[in-house]
Amino acid sequence: MRGKLVVGNWKMNGNMLQNQQLLDAIVPEIKTLGNMASAVCVPYPYLVMTQKVLQSTKIAWGAQNVSPYDLGAYTGEVAAEMLVDLGCYYVIVGHSERRALFGEDNQTVALKFKKAQSVGLIPILCVGETLAQREVGETERVIAEQLDTVVNLVSIDAFAKAVIAYEPVWAIGTGKTASPDQAQHVHAFIRNRLASHNAELASKIQILYGGSVKSNNAANLFSMPDIDGGLIGGASLIASEFISICKAAQC
Ligand code: 13P
Repeated sequence: MRGKLVVGNWKMNGNMLQNQQLLDAIVPEIKTLGNMASAVCVPYPYLVMTQKVLQSTKIAWGAQNVSPYDLGAYTGEVAAEMLVDLGCYYVIVGHSERRALFGEDNQTVALKFKKAQSVGLIPILCVGETLAQREVGETERVIAEQLDTVVNLVSIDAFAKAVIAYEPVWAIGTGKTASPDQAQHVHAFIRNRLASHNAELASKIQILYGGSVKSNNAANLFSMPDIDGGLIGGASLIASEFISICKAAQC
């Protein structure tokens, strides 16, 4: 059985004081929850403090991006090896903000996925369509291409140690959530596409939904058969919201 997973993506927010307060608030609450896993993906400069606070808890941590390169002369990049050094378990790759604002194409995302796995990190591969793509009926084609580029580079077997996040771009930070049925439809499409390569693996992989998940819609989304939890942006910065979303994931 697939367990539920809730991951906070803090994006480029926070400071030492706010982060400390947020982590201090969520740790004791999440400790009491069963049957679900949780993590926070924080900005690079705060990985050290996050490791310090979370290392003896059951909350995992990770980064929001990673270099596709090996250690070396790449000014300004952060290597996958460094994330391992800081105790990261997860790393987000291919978030739509990186695709749209920082020019990451499917091939770059696939290279990051591969590099992350090569050092034992679990990549959280984000896929999703824009509103314009959805409106012209391109959702499945876009997502298939995003998935297939990675499968072609690393092979389907690599997905045994990965998480997928379906994040419709039109639902991110907009307050417009995909309905549970809309999200389920795409999650099932993703699982079926992976199942065409390896049915057992596809039945086990966690597929998270992301895009304006809040405490008031999380339970309905998480009740869908192919939605295995959430990748949470804005609501992960508010302790009470994040805790409620984690509670909604208990099964
Ligand atoms: P919001 O929850 O703020 O819509 O962000 C979703 C997201 O992009 C998580 O990665």
